[in-house]
Amino acid sequence: MFSSRLTEAGVVPERIDTPAQARAVIEADGAAVVGGIHTEEQALDFASKVLGDKLVRLGRQFEASMRNHEREAAVVDAQPVDGRGRKRSFGNPGERMTAHNDGFAFGDYAPDYLFLWCKRPAESGGDSFLIDAWKLSELLAADPATADLAEFCRSVDIDHSEPNFPQGTYSPIVRTVASGRVQARYHPYLAPVPGSTRPEDAEMIGRWSDTVLHVRDNGPMFRAGAGDMICVDNYRLLHGRDGYTDPARELYSIWGWTTDAVAVPANQLDIVVPDLAALAG
Ligand SMILES: [Fe+2]
Repeated sequence: MFSSRLTEAGVVPERIDTPAQARAVIEADGAAVVGGIHTEEQALDFASKVLGDKLVRLGRQFEASMRNHEREAAVVDAQPVDGRGRKRSFGNPGERMTAHNDGFAFGDYAPDYLFLWCKRPAESGGDSFLIDAWKLSELLAADPATADLAEFCRSVDIDHSEPNFPQGTYSPIVRTVASGRVQARYHPYLAPVPGSTRPEDAEMIGRWSDTVLHVRDNGPMFRAGAGDMICVDNYRLLHGRDGYTDPARELYSIWGWTTDAVAVPANQLDIVVPDLAALAG
């Protein structure tokens, strides 16, 4: 049974025009959307102005298209089940995506900002959703029935790695990082720390997962049109999209790291083979 208030964590981004407006709205709501972006150069230029003086690293991460998905998903499908029975999958584009922070496989090296540039939307389907996971943890904390889950999310270290790609570090689901930014995370492979003797941890992670999926399926959705770019605080918000089948859909994901990030990778990250050993450089 979920409190009806939880869907208040769903975010429909406010439409803005300038990088300064984007910065202010992202700070307040976690995301904003700008239109009129028709080339990758324009997308990178706007994103770099949003991040301003704090920018450390910015670049196109990947192309979310049917063609690219099929190529990468085949490599991931061939990767083995891990020792705890976890198996990576990039999912089926025809189904609603699980909510996630981008770059979750990379732990502390995940980008703190994300720009989703829609070059061409799907003819139908593919609508977007955003969830303010930090606000969601606050809503859980405010309800006596779920305050224990909020406390778990804030205080118990868990394993944020993907199957077969250990991060070597453990941290809570919700935390405030050294720069003062809040970080609240979800992806489908969250697990107790390896060797944990606390069975309640797996149960709590399951409750967090159920809560996030409840908000995904009962909160607002919105549609990004051609030339729209959704600018996201990737530490605080989860994102995803509804299923689509249109092979002409083109969306580009741009990752940005600022001086607020916990860690910045030396090289471009590979989500197909997220090998953390290559990151520190
Ligand atoms: Fe994503």
